[in-house]
Amino acid sequence: MRAKIAGIGHYVPENVVTNEDLTKYMDTSDEWIQERTGIKERRYATKHKETTTTMAAIAAKKAIEMAGISPEDVDFIIFATLSPDYYFPGCGVLLQRALGITKTEIGALDIRNQCSGFVYGLSVADQFVKTGMYKNVLMVGSEMHSAGLEFNTQGRGVSVIFGDGAGAVILQPTQDENEGILTSALHSDGTSAEELAVYSPGCHGGIHLPDVDFGFEETDAPGEIFANQTLLEKGHMYPHMNGQAVFKKAVVKFPEVIMETLANINASPADIDMLIPHQANLRIAQFVQRTLKLPNEKVFNNIQKYGNTTAASIPIALSEAYEAGKIKKGDLVCLAAFGSGFTWGSTLIRWS
Ligand code: UT7
Repeated sequence: MRAKIAGIGHYVPENVVTNEDLTKYMDTSDEWIQERTGIKERRYATKHKETTTTMAAIAAKKAIEMAGISPEDVDFIIFATLSPDYYFPGCGVLLQRALGITKTEIGALDIRNQCSGFVYGLSVADQFVKTGMYKNVLMVGSEMHSAGLEFNTQGRGVSVIFGDGAGAVILQPTQDENEGILTSALHSDGTSAEELAVYSPGCHGGIHLPDVDFGFEETDAPGEIFANQTLLEKGHMYPHMNGQAVFKKAVVKFPEVIMETLANINASPADIDMLIPHQANLRIAQFVQRTLKLPNEKVFNNIQKYGNTTAASIPIALSEAYEAGKIKKGDLVCLAAFGSGFTWGSTLIRWS
């Protein structure tokens, strides 16, 4: 038994924010952003009206409809995001409520793997379906970055990159050996955890520990067990990113993990019909494309329109590529992601 994608959908907010629009709040330029990232514009959700969950619900309804089922048929939810509506509970239960799946009391799992959240979550869903435990797993990646970015020159290295949106798939079992998820590979390296992170809220001791004294020994050195004390001391609630460190690791790990999944099924890069790389930076995607020697028509990028939507970027791109007729039945589709953690992974799917 395999898991196949039986339904897919995505949603991006209506509000378009151009690079020029961002110059109102920070010292940046359309030229810099396009040259370094390929991004021309991104979408921002409408404040107080949309959230990570409401966007996810729209994408999920599309995927559910395409799969020919109703929300009540969903028997498990997996939700990947780094920008949840609340610190806790996670968005999985909020999505369950938003979809009106209240009678069946199905399980909801939240995935915290940032840019590789969708690939990680998909592999979890794959295991549930392959083992016969669930028949309709809803896997969603959704982000509302615009609610948590630093809109000033200090935050420009990060703020210009991220955008909002959601993508969802329904996974169902199949006995057909010519379709479905073929293999996945997942990796992490926590030694660089602070290179791309939001530090607060967190118990690391930055700025928010309660001021109480129970008489036991304490240290005044916040974050001394962590790798980068200076950054932790700031107790920053906005994303911090060492862009160059991420870039350098990403261009190595993307091709490496793709080659690993290809080797799992005795295939080579030439067998890939469509590569959907996580939309981190167009330059990273182009580097991966060159390394694997893939022609333009075998790689799908939409970061130009949406920026980096982290956990949502792969399902949005997959959904758009499918809608545009760029993925057909029988195609070997390769998903690959790298991001905060660092975590990275790849999945190969025979499209159905
Ligand atoms: O999906 C999550 C994973 N994230 C990634 O994969 C991101 C990977 N990294 C990147 O995409 C790139 O490193 C960035 C696009 C984030 C940055 O590009 P870069 O070429 O590495 O630039 P940099 O950080 O080395 O900064 C170069 C200069 C600096 O100025 P100085 O020190 O040379 O005077 C920055 O202050 O560009 C400046 N800068 C900006 N200038 C205008 C940084 N951000 C901006 C900006 N506008 N938005």
